[in-house]
Amino acid sequence: MQPAPTKKSETHQPETPLVDALKTYDRLDRRRFHVPAHAGHCLYEDATVWGQPFRYDLTELDGLDVLSEPDGAISEAQQRMASLFGVAHSFMLINGASVGLMAAMLCVAQPGAKVLIPRNAHRAVLSGLIVCGAQPVWFLPSHLPDWDLWGPVTVAQVAAQLQQHPDATVLFLTSPTYEGLGSDIPAIAGLCKAHGVALVVDEAHGSLWPLSDQLPASACHSGADVVIHSLHKSGGSLTQSALAHLPQGSCVDPTLFQQALNTLQSTSPSYLLMSSLDAACGFLGSTAGQVRIEWLLAQVQAVRRTLQTSLSHLRLYQPSGAAAQFWDPCKFYLSHPLETGEDWGARVEEAHQLAYESAKPGGVLYLANLGLTEADFEAFKTIILAEDEALRGAECPTSPLRGESVDSAEICLPQMALSPREAFFRKGHKVPIASALNRIAKETVVHCPPGIPVLMPGERIQKAHLPLLPEAGVWVVAEP
Ligand SMILES: Cc1ncc(COP(=O)(O)O)c(C=O)c1O
Repeated sequence: MQPAPTKKSETHQPETPLVDALKTYDRLDRRRFHVPAHAGHCLYEDATVWGQPFRYDLTELDGLDVLSEPDGAISEAQQRMASLFGVAHSFMLINGASVGLMAAMLCVAQPGAKVLIPRNAHRAVLSGLIVCGAQPVWFLPSHLPDWDLWGPVTVAQVAAQLQQHPDATVLFLTSPTYEGLGSDIPAIAGLCKAHGVALVVDEAHGSLWPLSDQLPASACHSGADVVIHSLHKSGGSLTQSALAHLPQGSCVDPTLFQQALNTLQSTSPSYLLMSSLDAACGFLGSTAGQVRIEWLLAQVQAVRRTLQTSLSHLRLYQPSGAAAQFWDPCKFYLSHPLETGEDWGARVEEAHQLAYESAKPGGVLYLANLGLTEADFEAFKTIILAEDEALRGAECPTSPLRGESVDSAEICLPQMALSPREAFFRKGHKVPIASALNRIAKETVVHCPPGIPVLMPGERIQKAHLPLLPEAGVWVVAEP
């Protein structure tokens, strides 16, 4: 029997802390220089679905296809995506770029296989290692100490790794980095091919790269075997929706990739997420979408030019030389001479409702995205110029402010005591930070964003890790 409907007079206001938090944030009416790239606006012309989420929150019914074995609307949408991105196969992801990276790991790395990974990899790459049982060979990408930023992985570094580890079977690269610095993927892919090594490129932050001649060449067109795009970060789809691509000539069998995804993804895929990918790709491939991308790049260039010529005290990151060829100009990374990025970013956000993407000791990252308006860019420029002007006459140190940073080179190369998978399955217990030195980590310690692990299962805890561990202590492998 159906329960009797509750009378209106008897109802209590439901307690919905998360809904309330969302409403509070929305009421702040901040300029959203952060992900997701729609900045709170629907970019697509047909807003019907997005205005009525419950009505369109359907499941794998007749006519709506099946994500794990697509042969209808989902398959057609994926083929259109592949054609938009110029690849052989595209797959919709409903657990972000993360699940794409894990699926890629399952396809290219057997248990025990040696996988070359620069230390600035996202935690999802590590999750892939735990799932498949491969053995990471870590190395450091270049580092920009003045900015406290990871730089590109150079061709020479890859060549050295391939020579040192002739038995490695895969290279996982993040390009561009969270702050927009890309590596020379065409040259690196050439090296990988010559050594018979598969190349997976985490292009999570470069979803627009294949779609404009003004942006660097995408890994989709540069010889990579798998490319992952976090479309929600820069392409305007809903948070958690992303794409995996197998470019032309990929060494990965599409049936195997589908199997890997089916192993990791939900059997109840959200049609809202999937249709937001469909709509975003439809938009990005349309004339309106192309115009919007070019408009965004023009706004970015104009603001950047002004800041470059006008700033006297604040510093704006701008690559030079070869690095400029593989760089995403939509990332504004700024540093303040007297305040840490965390303090400065928060103060400006509070004072001017200018929301940033992330902050760390060395600077603040603002992400220029498709959903912003001309007024947003104007306000951004004005606020940053005023912040610079406020420093006039101040005594500023010549060297940048530094602090404990998650992605600094001081977090030295991991000393692996166990494989990530072995450590994950060992018995463990929590220890206070004071007793953590030299113990083997059992947990992943990660500060998000950017999601680059400070510490991973199997790694020996070193002195440089200590200031970055959770105050409550860290989970370590039990000693025999
Ligand atoms: C470089 C990089 N790769 C992968 C991811 C994971 O993407 P998603 O959040 O879509 O799972 C992130 C997220 O921040 C990232 O920065």
